[in-house]
Amino acid sequence: MNIQFTEAELKEVERLKGLYPDSKAAIMPILWMAQKKFGWLSEDVMKYVGTLLSLPYSHVLGVASFYTMYFKKPMGKHHVQVCTNVSCMLRGGEELYEFVKTTYGIGHNETSQDGKISLEEVECMGACGGAPMIAINEDFYENVTIRDVEKLLQTL
Ligand code: FES
Repeated sequence: MNIQFTEAELKEVERLKGLYPDSKAAIMPILWMAQKKFGWLSEDVMKYVGTLLSLPYSHVLGVASFYTMYFKKPMGKHHVQVCTNVSCMLRGGEELYEFVKTTYGIGHNETSQDGKISLEEVECMGACGGAPMIAINEDFYENVTIRDVEKLLQTL
């Protein structure tokens, strides 16, 4: 895979760098851009991001490792996150997680064999008022039942 941003993406990198007193602070949005483009943050992708910010690989790896939203291995086309933290747990979050788990035969941070679905059990995503909630890629779904999740997954 050719690990290289386009001219337009490089302009965006420069714009992001300009938002901070120290351009190295743009590492998070640039890692996010890289993940969206390349699917996950391989060692080569992290090294590339490091060159854009004049940071060593170890620094980039340190940031990417700290945040679970950065994928350190290939994940599914549709990444399903199910919250099982307190509010969601009390309203059926664990049952939702078990449902997705058994439907696809995958566990935490695993991907279905066809590469379509990956699953992640997550901590509070700040949507407690709509518990239980799940997220599919960047879309949140709140007050969901097993039936709702089943329907959502069928549309993927
Ligand atoms: S506990 Fe699930 S979103 Fe807060």
